[in-house]
Amino acid sequence: MNILILGSGGREHSIAWAVLQNPKCDRLIVAPGNAGIAQIAECADIDIFDGDAVAGFATENAVDLVIIGPEAPLAAGVADACRAAGLKVFGPSAAAARLESSKSFTKAICDAAHAPTARYAHFSELESARAYLAKQPMPIVIKADGLAAGKGVVVATERDMAVSALEHMFGGEFGAAGSEVVIEEFMEGEEASYFVLVDGETVLPIGTAQDHKRVGDGDTGPNTGGMGAYSPAPILDETVARKALDEIIRPTMREMAKRGTPYSGVLYAGLMIRNGEPRLVEYNVRFGDPECQVLMMRLGGQALDLIQACAEGRLDSVEAQWAEDHALTVVMAAKGYPGSYEKGSEIRGLDALEENSSEMVFHAGTAARNGAVTANGGRVLNVTARGETLAQAREAAYRMVDAIDWPEGFCRRDIGWRALPQKL
Ligand code: AMP
Ligand code: GLY
Repeated sequence: MNILILGSGGREHSIAWAVLQNPKCDRLIVAPGNAGIAQIAECADIDIFDGDAVAGFATENAVDLVIIGPEAPLAAGVADACRAAGLKVFGPSAAAARLESSKSFTKAICDAAHAPTARYAHFSELESARAYLAKQPMPIVIKADGLAAGKGVVVATERDMAVSALEHMFGGEFGAAGSEVVIEEFMEGEEASYFVLVDGETVLPIGTAQDHKRVGDGDTGPNTGGMGAYSPAPILDETVARKALDEIIRPTMREMAKRGTPYSGVLYAGLMIRNGEPRLVEYNVRFGDPECQVLMMRLGGQALDLIQACAEGRLDSVEAQWAEDHALTVVMAAKGYPGSYEKGSEIRGLDALEENSSEMVFHAGTAARNGAVTANGGRVLNVTARGETLAQAREAAYRMVDAIDWPEGFCRRDIGWRALPQKL
């Protein structure tokens, strides 16, 4: 099979790495890719937001399967353009991608499907939002309706903070994404993510994970795209997982199909769990980053069989095979992230690391310069390991971290703390 993956992060590096372990893969192209991906696959410089350009490139290169990594090309209709050109695609249509690209759409779908989620109200202008807010208890959650690169959510502990978030959003801070706002009840509990593949109505669970969104140890400091993750998530045990499937995921997928916009691709359900009861925080229409890295490390080459079955609408004929293992990834970021940071510093010591089916450094934001690997983004490396226990996976991941010589970078030292309280 010839496969094209769209994206350039650690998520796409890990998908490429897993796909390549499957003997079915003959040729792998990643667009645009990064320096780590370039070590294992061909990289192509195409505009991944332009559906016609992607479909044209895939057709010319006899691509059998297009795997779309990030949400923005999905929301822009790249999957639709590829399907219209007769290509097999892993990723939802733009209409189904609204489950991530519009928070109010997702809330309305949850209402129709009676799926447990936070109470909410939806506004398209400041004054009525402000009036509603005045009557709500704190804390409260303010969300820009559209895609805002993970920055459109404010959990406000004080009323002033909530008002200021509303003013910024309606004032244009997120452009059109903030012209509508959802105000949501604050849910207490522990967060975990559930990943399922969906091809219309068949839902196939492929794993659970927990992310660490804050930049600092002990979950302190500003929010980031994610500083580390591990899989499985102990809080999402069998009972909670079954409830999430029966009460949230399957009913919302049925509602999408009923509306004529069936969902196809990976669905990431962000859940808030309290006393064994899951409620939906959000849907994402793609793999999480860095959650994908731990899922791919556990799935290995079978990831391609599952992704292909999903794209071909035959999920009812496959099963995910799980080893009783654990995976953990530590994100190494450039000092200053998620604020401003420098690019271009050299990262040493990567060549000396053994990379195998249990230990991999996925590249999130790197570039190659005169044979050296340099930092080229905020989140730069995802140091990932698998073990029989989570403690073993964590030990192996931090052993790799400590062998990487990059003074301009940093990482959290407590990834996995909810499951493994003592630090390394
Ligand atoms: P989202 O972009 O919707 O995932 O929101 C980002 C983060 O904000 C989530 O991962 C949660 O930690 C937090 N969050 C969002 N909505 C709520 C809510 N209703 N209650 C509590 N925390 C929330
Ligand atoms: N790690 C969170 C996300 O991918 O949205």
